[in-house]
Formats: sequence, C-alpha cells, structure tokens
Amino acid sequence: MSIKRQEDVTPAVLEVMRRTRDPRLREIMISLVTHLHGFVRDVGLTEAEFRDATAILNEIGKLASETHNEAVLMAGSLGVSSLVCLLNNGDDGLTETSQSVLGPFWRRNSPLVANGGSIVRSDTAGPPLFVRGRVQDRSGAAIAGAEIDVWHASPIGLYENQDPEQADMNLRGKFISDDDGRFWFRSVMMVGYPIPTNGVVGRLLRAQDRHPYRPAHLHALIFKPGYKVLISQVYDPGDPNIDTDVQFGVTRALIGEFVRHDEAHPDDPEVTAPWRSLDYTYTMEPGEAVLPRPPIK
Ligand code: BEZ
Ligand code: FE
Repeated sequence: MSIKRQEDVTPAVLEVMRRTRDPRLREIMISLVTHLHGFVRDVGLTEAEFRDATAILNEIGKLASETHNEAVLMAGSLGVSSLVCLLNNGDDGLTETSQSVLGPFWRRNSPLVANGGSIVRSDTAGPPLFVRGRVQDRSGAAIAGAEIDVWHASPIGLYENQDPEQADMNLRGKFISDDDGRFWFRSVMMVGYPIPTNGVVGRLLRAQDRHPYRPAHLHALIFKPGYKVLISQVYDPGDPNIDTDVQFGVTRALIGEFVRHDEAHPDDPEVTAPWRSLDYTYTMEPGEAVLPRPPIK
C-alpha cells in the first residue's frame, strides 16, 4: 500500500501488524498501534512534542539502576500498575482483592522470625505496632504454613535500604502462618513517604501540582504452593494522603484499621502508650505460586 496522506499511515501499519506470527503479540501490536495513532491524532501531537516524548523515554531508561526503576514509578503515577493489578486479580477484575502493587522495595531472603517476635532490628523510635494477620482462601478456610514476608517504611518514612541509620533488614521479616492461618509480630508504626522525584516522574508531578506521597502502608508477600503469590499492601485510613496516593494503589479492600491505644498494653507492661494494633485478613486466590523478580537485592 502506498502512503499518500496522513490518513493512509495507520492502515499501512496495521496491515504489517496483522502479519505478526505470535497471536498474542499480534493482538497487542494491533491494539497498541490503533490507540497510539489515535492518541497522536487526538492531541494533534506537534513535531517538537514528539521529539520531547522520545527524549523522555530515553531518560526513563537511563535513570534505571540496581536500586531505582523510573519506569515503575511512571506506570504507577499514571495508574497503569493499579489497573493491571485489578484486571488480573479478584476473579479477573470482577471482585475486590487483597492484591496490590509490589513496589520497588521488596527484598528476597528477609530473616525468618517466630510468631510474636519483632522486626525492629535497630533503634527505631516510634509508636509500637502489634500486627495480627490471618491468611485464608476464598471460602474463608485457614491457609496454614504460608510464608508471609513483610516490609515497611520507618517512622520517618524511609526503608532500611534508603537509610544508613537503620540495620540491614530492619522492619523486614518472614513469618509462617499457624494451623489457623494466623501470624503475628511487633514493629513500629510507619508513616507515608514521597516517591523519588529527582527524575521524569518528579517533573510530571510538579507540572500537575501533585504531591509525591504514598499513604502509610504495610507490605506483605505471601507464598504457599497451590495459590497465586499474594502481593499486598494494607493502608492506614488516618494518613492525610489516603485519598490521594500518588501511585493510585489504595483500594477499599486494602484499608486496615491501625487502632490507636492510649491504655496500657494488656500483656506487656513495658509497652508505652500510645501504641497501635492492626488486624487484617489476607485472602489468597488459587493459582501458580510464582515469585516476582526482586526489584532490589
Ligand atoms: C511502595 O509502596 O513501596 C511503592 C510502590 C510503587 C511506587 C513506589 C513505591
Ligand atoms: Fe511501600
């Protein structure tokens, strides 16, 4: 087909895309070209804007390192990570789900801790937090022997790998659920934190007058053969940014109750008030137990 004017371009490209051998790649490329060309027409993309766009994509790639993933931050900031998560979980998007985005801070091989133990490994000032979790299947039956990896930011909003003041693996730990699907541990209350804003994503947020904060949350990655790996985050509804998460990760099912207690702790007289408690039930879906690639070492 010879191209004479702008309207001839899209059919010419689609004709080539239709010849893609792999059916899934063919489906993706036909849709991608259709939407991409539609977008260019929609906004009347100028040549200068097109050159800017290609420079931005190159910059996103150059910002990638062992500890930084600008593409993931951008996908989250545009709501794509959340959309992909919700489309692929909760009965293929039909129901609410405990699944959430992994984020850039999961580390493999966090230390095993007995139930009731603490994940505070270096002096970390902040209100004590007592977490009680339960792992169940969709019928509500307990899942025993699940491995629950937890991690969270400190009371000043930094993960241990971002903060030389914290011990290695501080505020990270792995637990095994008991016969009733339960696990429990002690930590300190986390706060919300800003995503890195020294790159392309930061420029976009500033241009849109958006803040860079994620509301306070507890991450968990739960592994049990026979179930899809559950990647979850439980959010504190008391956080000032609970309705404006920069990554659009907060869903109704992921709101936890981080209850503030001003009374003495019932079991431990050494615990000073105020302290917090969180009770949360994690629901796993059937599927293959495939671990994601850790975003950092
Ligand atoms: C996180 O929760 O750790 C996170 C998720 C997405 C982007 C940045 C951080
Ligand atoms: Fe996080």
